[in-house]
Amino acid sequence: MSGADTVKEDRLWQRHADMAKLGGTPKGGVNRQALSPEDAQARNLLALWAKARGFSISTDAIGNLFIWRQGTDKHAPPVMSGSHMDSQPTGGRFDGMYGVLAAFEALEALEDAKIATKRPVVAVAWTNEEGSRFQPGAMGSAVFAGHYKLDEMLQVKDWKGVALKDALAETLKAAPAPATAPFKVDSYVEAHIEQGPRLENEGKTIGVVTAIQGSRRYIVETLGEEAHAGTTPRAARKDAFQAALRIANAMYEATTDRDDTLRFTIGRVDVQPGSPNTVPGKAVFTIDMRHPQDAVLDIHEKKLRDIVAGKAAPCTATIERITNVAPTDFDPKVIDLVRDKANALKLSNMDMPSGAGHDAMHIAKLCPAGMIFVPCERGISHNEIENATPQDLAAGTRVLVEVLEALANR
Ligand code: GLV
Ligand code: MN
Ligand code: MN
Repeated sequence: MSGADTVKEDRLWQRHADMAKLGGTPKGGVNRQALSPEDAQARNLLALWAKARGFSISTDAIGNLFIWRQGTDKHAPPVMSGSHMDSQPTGGRFDGMYGVLAAFEALEALEDAKIATKRPVVAVAWTNEEGSRFQPGAMGSAVFAGHYKLDEMLQVKDWKGVALKDALAETLKAAPAPATAPFKVDSYVEAHIEQGPRLENEGKTIGVVTAIQGSRRYIVETLGEEAHAGTTPRAARKDAFQAALRIANAMYEATTDRDDTLRFTIGRVDVQPGSPNTVPGKAVFTIDMRHPQDAVLDIHEKKLRDIVAGKAAPCTATIERITNVAPTDFDPKVIDLVRDKANALKLSNMDMPSGAGHDAMHIAKLCPAGMIFVPCERGISHNEIENATPQDLAAGTRVLVEVLEALANR
């Protein structure tokens, strides 16, 4: 019996349904932002399932949660798989959670098939992938990989001023796990819903992920002068929101490319003091910009900086880069293995790059890594209506368990 034979579609689907209750929204999605009480509940539920199967759990200094199925060679670095359990404020039930539950199902399937592996196989739930509450995103995996400094991340504050260090302490108090020392990883494979429409449009079940495009995030802040909305003449105003609008409009224009490859998004705008009858004295907005080539991102970053310098007057403005994640090319051997296993399972598949960022982009700098995509309905994600079929989720997990077993016995 192989690991793929013991993947249980119903069990995997039910686990998604159970997790969707934690932070569940009336529209059927989830609001389970990083290090919130709902995040702690999800950690506890996963830990409960793990203990019931005899797997051990551990956590590191940034709160990544690891679930261990031991190998026959106690000293061999593990093969790892997982994703994230935190969500967007109006997120779906599958973004991230699928990768965690697929990895957990893979551990269970290996257990059910009584397959011993040389290396341990570890399922992981990375802390704060979404970066909607605490910036930057993909934080847990980036700290694990040594790209972001733990001390700096612990100081990061959310939009309400809560320090990550405090939110993490609360979370680990509510969802405790034994601490783990840093450890090496042999290889990493992450399953995820595609979050775009290509698999569905092409009628394919498995996306063999070859790369992830580069992404950068920025915060722009404009400073003006608060003034009375009824009495202050236009010419005398330093309206920080108007300055932000001028800057934003120029940026939209400067980042429009003919083939629509460059992605530019302003996803959050904060206007202060936020009173209808006061001219805004401060505005803050976020930028998320992505492209497969770093050089193109460099060119457009320069444009953004020039716009901030040139369009702010009579206000002042600054732009700060919060993250810069270079494009990722996955390991050719892992890519081939994913494709071979999908073919062996007679699952239709196609090679594709990822438009979304994933924890795998950081772990790929540590060890050979790859990803497996499955379709999601109409490609919609970062939306409460995000949906996927139990069959596709199970199909991706079958590929995953076969890949993990092969890697763990190399
Ligand atoms: C992850 O959710 C991303 O923003 O790509
Ligand atoms: Mn995700
Ligand atoms: Mn996401």
